[in-house]
Amino acid sequence: MSRVGILFSGRGSNMGALLRAAAALGFPGEIVLAISNVPGAGGFDLAVAHGVPSLCIDHRPFAGDRGAHERAIDAALHEAGVTLVCLAGYMRRLTPFLVGQWAGRMLNIHPSLLPSFPGLHTHRRALDAGVKLHGCTVHVVTDIVDEGPILAQAAIPVLPDDDEDTLAARILTQEHALYPATLERFLHDVPGHFDPDAALLNPLPIPPPAP
Ligand code: GRF
Repeated sequence: MSRVGILFSGRGSNMGALLRAAAALGFPGEIVLAISNVPGAGGFDLAVAHGVPSLCIDHRPFAGDRGAHERAIDAALHEAGVTLVCLAGYMRRLTPFLVGQWAGRMLNIHPSLLPSFPGLHTHRRALDAGVKLHGCTVHVVTDIVDEGPILAQAAIPVLPDDDEDTLAARILTQEHALYPATLERFLHDVPGHFDPDAALLNPLPIPPPAP
């Protein structure tokens, strides 16, 4: 059984979705630790509610030494016997050290259809760009922020009267379905051989094949 560690910085709603999924019978992984870099982050309550150990490793006392902060996180993950890490709204840029330690074993969820709109404020940028489809992506973490092999995506139409908040809310609903489903498939899979046929979770209707 895989032992999953979660890194989060905020309200932790994606972590909550992972915790709920992992509590179900037959889920192929156990969430054994949740770490945040932000004291008092909302997600701590979710971890407590699910009986999952949580830890705050505040980045501020490390005074800009990202490497030292990441070494502390890495040590805590190893101490808990973690075998796979899920970033769930973890708002620190990672250095090659932590990415390298968890190469192929660290996933992230991003609120856009990558490679479009990496980085912040994805919903506002999607609206500004006038895209008609927007969504979210679960990918393997590599050295470049919001890059790395795409495991699964969910797409929704952008509606004419959408604003940043309405779009964000509809995407978040998709995130909460996409991340647990992708994690489950990833854990069932042989590492590095994720089934590409199963990699699209898309609420849009799939057009029938051409006659
Ligand atoms: C989500 O939109 C996630 O895709 C992004 O950061 C946000 C975190 O939200 N990486 P939450 O803390 O999971 O509610």
